[in-house]
Amino acid sequence: MKARIIGTGSYLPETIRTNKDIEQMVDTSDEWIRARTGIRERRIAADNEQTSDLAVKAARKAMDMAGVSPEEIDFLVVGTITGDLPWPATACLVQEGLGLKNAFAYDVSAACSGFVFALDAAVQQIESGHIRKALVVGAECLSRIIDWQDRNTCILFGDGAGAVVLEGQDGDHGVLSTHLHSDGSYWELLHQPGFGTRTPATEQGILDRIPYLKMAGNEVFKVAVRSLTEVAKEALEANSLTADQIDMMIPHQANLRILEATAKRLKMREDQVYVNVDRFGNTSGASIPIALDEANRKGLIKENDILLFDAFGGGFTWGSAVVRW
Ligand code: COA
Repeated sequence: MKARIIGTGSYLPETIRTNKDIEQMVDTSDEWIRARTGIRERRIAADNEQTSDLAVKAARKAMDMAGVSPEEIDFLVVGTITGDLPWPATACLVQEGLGLKNAFAYDVSAACSGFVFALDAAVQQIESGHIRKALVVGAECLSRIIDWQDRNTCILFGDGAGAVVLEGQDGDHGVLSTHLHSDGSYWELLHQPGFGTRTPATEQGILDRIPYLKMAGNEVFKVAVRSLTEVAKEALEANSLTADQIDMMIPHQANLRILEATAKRLKMREDQVYVNVDRFGNTSGASIPIALDEANRKGLIKENDILLFDAFGGGFTWGSAVVRW
């Protein structure tokens, strides 16, 4: 029994924030941002748009493509670090929005690795025979936790959602492997300090900008490239594949320099790596399913193609999945 992807969907908010727009907010330039990150623009959710709204829109498209009704979904898992509320899980709000009456639903908090971690949860449920059909979503409104006064971070991130429907099928199509890793010793390099039990909500906390994402960019960069490379190699070895046998690598769209450095270390050609970070920035747990859906709808993925998802994020967390389409 393999977990096969039978539908993909994505949703990006309409509002585009360009590098020129950010020039008006902090001391930066379009040239600097493009040279250091490859990002030109990103999407920003409307004030009345929540993470669950983005997730519902992406998921509907994936379910339409798969031709499955809401009642058929047994399990919904949402990878997000920007849920509508601290709790309950955003997945429960998405379940309500989609009318998934027969599903159980929960969130996975693995930052930018959120989709791959969530995918793994669904694959395990399907392969064990517990369920038949799962909906896996990566959805983020990072613009709500970004410090728009901090030029080190506000240039990088964007909002969006992507989703896949998985079905248990006999045969050799589907998710061939998943590999997940975490190392909590790095947590401080990329995190959101509040408000949580460590830093409960106070007025002073707001003045101290506690609710906003903090990042040590340079250090994150180095570990990201190393981890993305190692976990991709681990996936290739586990499947007795060489890098040139990957038809498409879909890495977490952190920034272009990380993607290029990783591809170079893996000896992958530029045309093997799917890139859309220039248009959407880093959408954290949403980036891989957004890129997958874009590639799929453009007709860039053929039956039997081998795909490699490669993710890294806060925690640190990192992971891969290999898929035969
Ligand atoms: N515009 C202009 N200058 C900026 C700037 C901006 N938006 N952000 C930082 N700078 C400045 C710094 O203040 C610093 O100036 P100084 O030398 O006078 O102190 C200089 O540029 C270099 O800063 P540094 O942090 O060393 O730059 P960098 O080459 O490491 O690039 C990042 C910064 C954030 C683009 C890079 O570290 C990065 O991509 N890191 C990974 C981030 C990431 O992907 N995180 C998510 C992982 S899932």
